[in-house]
Amino acid sequence: MSGRDVGRATAGRVSAGALGDAGPVAAARVTKPHGGAVHTQVHPFEVRTNEPVAEGVWCMRCATPVAAELEPGQFVNLQVPGDGSHLLRVPLSFSLADGANELLELVYAVVGEGTERLSAMRPGDTSTLVGPCGNGWKMPSEANGRALLVAGGVGMPPVVACARMLAQNGVGFDAIVGAQTGSRHVEFLLDELRGMAPNEGCDCARKVVVCTDDGTLGVRGFTTAAMADLIADHPYEIIYTCGPQPMMAGVARLAAQRGVACQASLERMMGCGFGACSCCNVELTAGGYALCCKDGPVFDAREVVW
Ligand SMILES: Cc1cc2nc3c(=O)[nH]c(=O)nc-3n(C[C@H](O)[C@H](O)[C@H](O)COP(=O)(O)OP(=O)(O)OC[C@H]3O[C@@H](n4cnc5c(N)ncnc54)[C@H](O)[C@@H]3O)c2cc1C
Ligand code: FES
Repeated sequence: MSGRDVGRATAGRVSAGALGDAGPVAAARVTKPHGGAVHTQVHPFEVRTNEPVAEGVWCMRCATPVAAELEPGQFVNLQVPGDGSHLLRVPLSFSLADGANELLELVYAVVGEGTERLSAMRPGDTSTLVGPCGNGWKMPSEANGRALLVAGGVGMPPVVACARMLAQNGVGFDAIVGAQTGSRHVEFLLDELRGMAPNEGCDCARKVVVCTDDGTLGVRGFTTAAMADLIADHPYEIIYTCGPQPMMAGVARLAAQRGVACQASLERMMGCGFGACSCCNVELTAGGYALCCKDGPVFDAREVVW
């Protein structure tokens, strides 16, 4: 079942009033990639499903009105209930924002205390999230250009959201997915990627190359090696990438060598998530710093000091 089907099958509505204060947290403004601007606010969410999809990796689907506002590549910042001494929210990208059904799909690795408690949330549990946060992916400038997606590990969710955006706009793409080892979470998101091709009526996901460090799924080796092969033979107009920083640095370097535009979704430790604390700096090639949470997380790869 694709994420879209799940959205239709399970979505419901949460009432902001029923879940407490959902007022604005700051005069934080994000520019939508496709024009206009929306305010970043606190919104309620209610868990619909929250299950492991691989060892240490969970998929949560939750109902929240902000799903209708989110653009692919933006993120949300979740308040995880259960421990008042933990003040910081957990920033997460999404693989699906189904606005019609107000449903959000998050795929996350359990790495510490916050994500551990997140994995303990059960259907019907409620909390709040801040969103929409940051700026998402931008569409290619040429309508008939072809895109290459390069995703690594838990960098896959925003890349899957990017694939949906391209598919909905009729832009064909190929994809390279890398992981340390073949795991069900890779296969879970791969199914979503592959499932898009026939549904959207475009030449999507024509080629999906899977690379694992240990060769347990797809080919053994790094995504950048697969990328070097693909871009040698195909005139991509744009490359979209999210994953570990060293992988994205390699992708950005190869894209620059070939003169192909490249957008990268960066990760930084985040305090507020909406531009108030200045703790998520990204060094820029032009000098100075940008804020990952407000100016990113998606950046033009040429603007970033890798
Ligand atoms: C914009 C953005 C989008 C993200 N999207 C996803 C996603 O879709 N799926 C996913 O699994 N993870 C994602 N992350 C990473 C996720 O936010 C962190 O793994 C999470 O906050 C860790 O919280 P914790 O309390 O469980 O761990 P902590 O106990 O706080 O930390 C555990 C470990 O994770 C590291 N860590 C903590 N916060 C971050 C962070 N913000 N970025 C990088 N490393 C961190 C710490 O250095 C430490 O090593 C994203 C991060 C950002 C900034
Ligand atoms: S996390 Fe506070 S400014 Fe970016």
